[in-house]
Amino acid sequence: MIGRFVEEENPVEIRAQIKEIFFLSSRRGNVLTGVAREQFFGSWAGYYLDNIPDQTLLFKTPSCGIAGYLTGCFNSLAAHPLYHDLFYYQAFDKWYKQYPAHFHVNCHPNFRSQGIGKVLVETFVGYASQAGAAGVHLVTGTGARNRQFYERQKFFKQTTCRLNNANLVLLGRVF
Ligand SMILES: CC(C)(COP(=O)(O)OP(=O)(O)OC[C@H]1O[C@@H](n2cnc3c(N)ncnc32)[C@H](O)[C@@H]1OP(=O)(O)O)[C@@H](O)C(=O)NCCC(=O)NCCS
Repeated sequence: MIGRFVEEENPVEIRAQIKEIFFLSSRRGNVLTGVAREQFFGSWAGYYLDNIPDQTLLFKTPSCGIAGYLTGCFNSLAAHPLYHDLFYYQAFDKWYKQYPAHFHVNCHPNFRSQGIGKVLVETFVGYASQAGAAGVHLVTGTGARNRQFYERQKFFKQTTCRLNNANLVLLGRVF
């Protein structure tokens, strides 16, 4: 079942579950400790939970809690702190007019390849379109396994960039 983070009665508990999935899904984040670990979570998830909780989606199971989540933003140009906190955000800035919405999606390892990610992305695309966004984008590694997952959902390469020793690609979908 899909819900929005803003509707949760116990946001502290749900945030903890999102955090667990986040670090189970992030190789780079997992080597960090202390403040650096918190800051890393903050820029990929915490910012969205604190500032635009209506744009974050949860996939809930009756018995196991959160199986997957999507932190989203309908207007990337307005998310000013991300220009400072997300290392690639400034570099792709000229694409945010054409593809104003963006998101990050992760599923718990026990719930991958069951279609949950697809439902989260399609629901977000629907909400972003209703909110008036002209398109949606995401940024991933050029050789990342998840790239085919996005391409199956009609997110296609618009541009690439090499930053901090990472080869990145912006995938976009217009409505
Ligand atoms: C990418 C992800 C959100 C997709 O959600 P999902 O519910 O597994 O996806 P669906 O069941 O709708 O589609 C399955 C596809 O997801 C991708 N996928 C599955 N497991 C994956 C993994 N561990 N890492 C990356 N992509 C994965 C594959 O393309 C898979 O297709 P396949 O089963 O034919 O190989 C989810 O697999 C995940 O959380 N992966 C790890 C973290 C990640 O890559 N997040 C995206 C950051 S940009």
